[in-house]
Amino acid sequence: MATLETTVDGIKMPNPFVIGSGPPGTNVRVIKRAFKEGWGGVIAKTVSLDASKVVNVGPRYAKLHSTDGKEVIGWENIELISDRPFEKWLDEFKECKDEYPDGVLIASIMEEFNKDAWCEITERCQEVGVDAFELNFSCPHGLPERKMGAAMGQDPDILGEVCSWVNAVSKIPVWAKMTPNVTHIEDPSRAALANGCEGIAAINTIRSVMGVDLETLRPMPTVEGYTTPGGYSSRAVKPIALRMVMEIAQLIRNEFPVPLSFRHRRGRDRSRRRRVHPPRWRYGASLYRRHEVRLWPREDDVRPAFGIHGQQRLRDLGRLQGSSSRLLHYPRRTGPHADRAQVRGESSQRSDGRQ
Ligand SMILES: Cc1cc2nc3c(=O)[nH]c(=O)nc-3n(C[C@H](O)[C@H](O)[C@H](O)COP(=O)(O)O)c2cc1C
Repeated sequence: MATLETTVDGIKMPNPFVIGSGPPGTNVRVIKRAFKEGWGGVIAKTVSLDASKVVNVGPRYAKLHSTDGKEVIGWENIELISDRPFEKWLDEFKECKDEYPDGVLIASIMEEFNKDAWCEITERCQEVGVDAFELNFSCPHGLPERKMGAAMGQDPDILGEVCSWVNAVSKIPVWAKMTPNVTHIEDPSRAALANGCEGIAAINTIRSVMGVDLETLRPMPTVEGYTTPGGYSSRAVKPIALRMVMEIAQLIRNEFPVPLSFRHRRGRDRSRRRRVHPPRWRYGASLYRRHEVRLWPREDDVRPAFGIHGQQRLRDLGRLQGSSSRLLHYPRRTGPHADRAQVRGESSQRSDGRQ
């Protein structure tokens, strides 16, 4: 029977469909709902250690409609990262993994340029059992005055340093989420990969101002008569996203290839190599780790492609036969990624014994 199962960086997923960080991952209730509906994974709404500095405003969304007004083509938001307390999030991550141990839960994290803060947020999230990290270097309106989000993602040197801090303490895969608000997305992507990240997530939203309400002459979305440039998403940005995914894929192919000898290298006695040449091995580990680029599709986009109609749900995808054969060609990752714990000579943290 056809299966949608896929393995990414050693993480086994029931299917490759993952919800991007944002409102659908804003608390444990909606995350659990997503798992119940059959999503392969959820990237939770971005969290930081101190939620008190995050003040979300309303209204914070504006839409661009098609001429007949029936369809939303573009979507702008000025929503910041989560304003819910970090301790609450830790409880919810744990509750979620306890209830859905096979649901892939990815913590999206963001901090200021402070090593202790990045190490603390990484260690505390992985203690409660999340499966991977997405580093948010990409929110276009997220606390730039504190050099967070896209403000950090636009500076490859700073981004690379933060990636090295996180990768030094993370025992689970780390993906860096890129901002499209740069001239060459290869530059920050290269810095992330060279500093140990397994994957690149692309793209976050494009800096934008949706328009002006011609009746009130106020910019949209208006908060007490004012606005600030927000992030543009939805169908309108897909061609730009695809171009950037292509550029990142080419970067990986040209500069971070997985050598054919990868499996052979994995079989070597790492602990001995590590003891004898620690710095060299660390360098080698980051070079030979498997890097991936993923474009998470929308459910609306994949439904017709896989013959899902009407009331059929995403969770039924796994039961499809015949028409879903193309899914078998979806990049299968059978675990060439060296588990971080293994690379570091520690025992695996996974309860199911998978590497
Ligand atoms: C309302 C809203 C809130 C979002 N919040 C986050 C966030 O907290 N962290 C993050 O990394 N991306 C966030 N995003 C960006 C999305 O994860 C995604 O990268 C972006 O919307 C582009 O993809 P899309 O066009 O498929 O929506 C948010 C997007 C929207 C629309």
